[in-house]
Amino acid sequence: MSPFRTHLKLAHQFWESLILPGDLAVDATCGNGHDTLFLAKLPIAKLYALDLQAAAIAATRQRLVEGLSASQLAKVQLIHGSHTHFPEEIHNVKLIVYNLGYLPGGDKSLTTRTETTLASLQLALERLKTGGAISLTCYPGHDEGAREEEALLAFVRSLDKKLWSCSYHQWINRKQAPSLLFLQKLYP
Ligand SMILES: C[S@@+](CC[C@H](N)C(=O)[O-])C[C@H]1O[C@@H](n2cnc3c(N)ncnc32)[C@H](O)[C@@H]1O
Repeated sequence: MSPFRTHLKLAHQFWESLILPGDLAVDATCGNGHDTLFLAKLPIAKLYALDLQAAAIAATRQRLVEGLSASQLAKVQLIHGSHTHFPEEIHNVKLIVYNLGYLPGGDKSLTTRTETTLASLQLALERLKTGGAISLTCYPGHDEGAREEEALLAFVRSLDKKLWSCSYHQWINRKQAPSLLFLQKLYP
């Protein structure tokens, strides 16, 4: 099977190619912890994982305890709260990831929202180091997801090309396929 067959696989390959030993990373929507687990196995110095739902934090904690060594686990800090606020120590970050939408198997009404995702993205841009990147996985297959993707695309298209390198990926022969946005900070 092609290594680029799923959007998550493609995102993971991008993250893996970006992270260098000692980097700081953030999972802004940890959910059930699949992406947090992947990130925690990369040679990061510190990983922050946030989610609005207590159930998501608990599920992520469980997955990490089962899947990580003690030293890998010690590098992860779980934060029960909204990604519209990042603690002060989250700065000079190499990678911030968002897997938008709702928690699989959870309450679909607790999906990410266009306004809060945009507010968080603006904050995330300020917290990156040069060469750092933001990865957003969008799900335009449901109403709020479609609105969210459209708003994100409009915002990202407005970013200065001298400061930001921005790309968009979607499998165009699949209906309402998930999409990926990658933003890399070029300067200063
Ligand atoms: C698609 S799920 C994430 C799946 C996750 N990446 C995984 O590997 O299981 C999206 C998550 O975003 C969370 N979320 C929604 N709004 C949020 C916010 N404002 N701040 C932080 N998390 C939020 C939801 O609670 C949900 O768990």
